[in-house]
Amino acid sequence: MLIRPTRREDRLTVLALIELAFNGADEARVVAQLYRSDEQEIEFVAEIEGEIVGHLMMTSLTVEGIHALAVGPLCVHPFARNQGIGSALLQRGLDTARGRGCEAVFVVGEPSFYRRFGFTRTTSASLAGLYQGCLLQVLELKPGRLGRAGPELRFADAFAQFG
Ligand SMILES: CC(C)(COP(=O)(O)OP(=O)(O)OC[C@H]1O[C@@H](n2cnc3c(N)ncnc32)[C@H](O)[C@@H]1OP(=O)(O)O)[C@@H](O)C(=O)NCCC(=O)NCCS
Repeated sequence: MLIRPTRREDRLTVLALIELAFNGADEARVVAQLYRSDEQEIEFVAEIEGEIVGHLMMTSLTVEGIHALAVGPLCVHPFARNQGIGSALLQRGLDTARGRGCEAVFVVGEPSFYRRFGFTRTTSASLAGLYQGCLLQVLELKPGRLGRAGPELRFADAFAQFG
């Protein structure tokens, strides 16, 4: 398995994979919008024998006081699951984020998957804000910095259409 940065010519394949993996077009629409506004900060695909079987995108997330990113979407082709591909994509994304000086990574997703990477539910009521009750989790890449974060999180605009 190879994990490599996504290329422009991968985009149609990636959109089709996302639609298949999530069993619907909502996430693919969000990613198409993110491509249009060029908001993908970190993006990798996983390839097996030249076929794209997994995809990770990380976008910028606005929160005052710290440099933060958001994970999502992350997906793996249904026939390629449970082989460590999703984990490898996420780990590569987190390593890249850390290397770029990112201080915290947020995600809305299944805690049982993200917990193994060190994500925890946000404990700050003010940070949870709008996302209270959602599965908002955070991974501090630079310990202690989260305390400096302002009260509001804003995901990339494309996510507003989601749901
Ligand atoms: C979630 C997803 C990316 C995981 O990819 P993957 O390559 O199968 O994951 P890995 O092989 O690295 O890890 C497998 C582990 O994750 C767990 N896992 C997979 N999907 C999960 C989910 N939706 N919620 C919780 N745990 C999940 C598996 O049970 C397995 O656990 P184990 O190691 O204890 O047996 C993939 O299942 C997928 O594309 N799902 C549909 C899209 C989606 O829901 N994405 C959002 C993720 S919250």
